[in-house]
Amino acid sequence: MRATQFSLSAVGAAGHRAMHQRLEGGGIFADPLARDILDDDEWRAAENQAAAPAGRPMRLFMAARSRLAEDTIAAAVARGVRQAVVLGAGLDTFSLRNPHAGAGLRVFEVDHPETQASKMLRLERIATRPLHWPRFVPVDFETQRLGQALDTAGFDDSRPAVFMWLGVIMYLTTEAARSTLAYVGGIPGAEIVFDYTEPLENYTPARRAPMVALAERLAQLGEPWLSLFDPPALAAELQRLGFVEMEDLDLAAIAGRFPAMFAGISPSGAGPHVMIARNFAAGPG
Ligand SMILES: C[S@@+](CC[C@H](N)C(=O)[O-])C[C@H]1O[C@@H](n2cnc3c(N)ncnc32)[C@H](O)[C@@H]1O
Repeated sequence: MRATQFSLSAVGAAGHRAMHQRLEGGGIFADPLARDILDDDEWRAAENQAAAPAGRPMRLFMAARSRLAEDTIAAAVARGVRQAVVLGAGLDTFSLRNPHAGAGLRVFEVDHPETQASKMLRLERIATRPLHWPRFVPVDFETQRLGQALDTAGFDDSRPAVFMWLGVIMYLTTEAARSTLAYVGGIPGAEIVFDYTEPLENYTPARRAPMVALAERLAQLGEPWLSLFDPPALAAELQRLGFVEMEDLDLAAIAGRFPAMFAGISPSGAGPHVMIARNFAAGPG
């Protein structure tokens, strides 16, 4: 994304989560702050976005990736992990809700400085609600060292941690994506949940057209997709970077996790994925 720009794609993703509360009652992912983090114009834009029935699979995917990430964090906390890092947090509200604060989970929220500054202004607006406060860590993945910034913020990279990195990797250069994954892979007892998109040529012609249109819209907003991944190549890269267990969920597998919500949608073939990767053997969960 442009170095001086607040992320508009972050507003789009937050709009999907907010509309999931209204239209599906948060059936996949309940987020009581999803509406509040948006201003009124953004909420109206989200309503318009949701008016097109074709937007439903994308909205459900957005809800599912958050649910899978937060379930992974909950399981990590149950194992004793006490550090969570939200990378490229945008308007995600996990850190503000921190359901594991009582267990002592410390949350670090990393984002592009412009996006993070805008979020912090929003928090002043909704601070009448009881909020948890993460450690805010401004980082441009393209030009700054994530490890150094987290270290300065008090993150302990000798202790286990769980990372959530949703809706970000496609906006990064391959080098920035790889160096972030290499950093996470080098932390003992690290686990990361991220989503990625397959190269558009993998899509069937019918499904490729809307994805190309979406990618073009995002590029016009200054947030082009720079890193798309073939699943086998990504798995090999993660292995090279120290990850030993991977769950790569394509849209069909995700729909299978939430069958009632995905009723009437039968995804097949290429599409977005959620990857859960760890550099230790957790065994059957
Ligand atoms: C589509 S939004 C996703 C936000 C949030 N994770 C979510 O799921 O709603 C993309 C996020 O990536 C962040 N991002 C994009 N390029 C970045 C970069 N070079 N450095 C840091 N963050 C970046 C943006 O600031 C934004 O928060």
